[in-house]
Amino acid sequence: MNRFENKVALITGSSQGIGAACALRLAKDGCDIILNGHKFDERGEKLIAEIEGMGRKAAFLVADLSKAKEAIKLVTDAVDTFSRLDILVNNAGVEKNANFWEVTEEDYDLVMDTNLKGVFFGIQSFVNYCRKNKVEGAVINMSSVHEEIVFPHFAAYCASKGGLRMLTRNLATELAPFNIRINNVAPGAVSTPINQDLLEDKAQLKKVLQNIPLRRMGKVEDVAGVVAFLASDDAAYVTGSTYFVDGGLTYHYEEQ
Ligand code: NAI
Ligand code: BGC
Repeated sequence: MNRFENKVALITGSSQGIGAACALRLAKDGCDIILNGHKFDERGEKLIAEIEGMGRKAAFLVADLSKAKEAIKLVTDAVDTFSRLDILVNNAGVEKNANFWEVTEEDYDLVMDTNLKGVFFGIQSFVNYCRKNKVEGAVINMSSVHEEIVFPHFAAYCASKGGLRMLTRNLATELAPFNIRINNVAPGAVSTPINQDLLEDKAQLKKVLQNIPLRRMGKVEDVAGVVAFLASDDAAYVTGSTYFVDGGLTYHYEEQ
């Protein structure tokens, strides 16, 4: 399938996990890819080789997205790399587990700066480029089921994803006149390094699975497929929405 002919996508935080899967899926569907992370290492090298093996172009740009200036520059550097940019997937994110009353300012800042502030200014940079060049861009934010449901001991994370929820709703209206679409994808519990502790704790994992009607963890490919849909023209009339990819977790009901 080549639903992204001549298009370029930037996927933040794409060395591993959901971001890497999104990069591979978009490349499979015909897109050229800009990868990003804190550092370029063998994971990035392997992804570039895989994407080039599919006949697509790929590059890796290092940037720390907890810094607004770097988020802004990443977008302009991405535009320069393959001379255009059509799709921005804001995937990079961090979480910190702590009782609310013990959260440090440092951890609060890291979570909010990465998950919300960097995303905010990255989108602003992309929108400036799209408006100037009449590009009908698509933005996909990797939110979480926790833009909607609670996650005790992850207060800053929930605040950041809740912020993403309203940012997307607001920008969908403000950017519609330029045909720039923006949507959130809200994964449930997906098997990635962010969930390493959970995956190693069999008792806790059993409890989590009891709350998931499909009774399994999500796969990164489950998320990437929805991202590819939202990035494509198949979703031309979709903006300001959140697509939950959670096996039913968010609105589950256990029959007694
Ligand atoms: P992950 O920890 O495997 O991947 C996150 C990636 O973001 C890493 O490659 C990391 O280096 C990068 N990153 C973090 N801070 C960065 C920064 N300041 N600058 C550049 N890159 C940075 O985790 P996963 O699961 O793949 O998470 C991806 C996104 O999906 C996150 O936004 C997360 O909140 C979200 N999510 C994950 C879920 C899950 O169950 N795995 C569920 C719901 C949402
Ligand atoms: C978190 C994961 C968690 C999942 C379901 C995600 O936003 O990053 O750690 O397992 O939500 O609660």
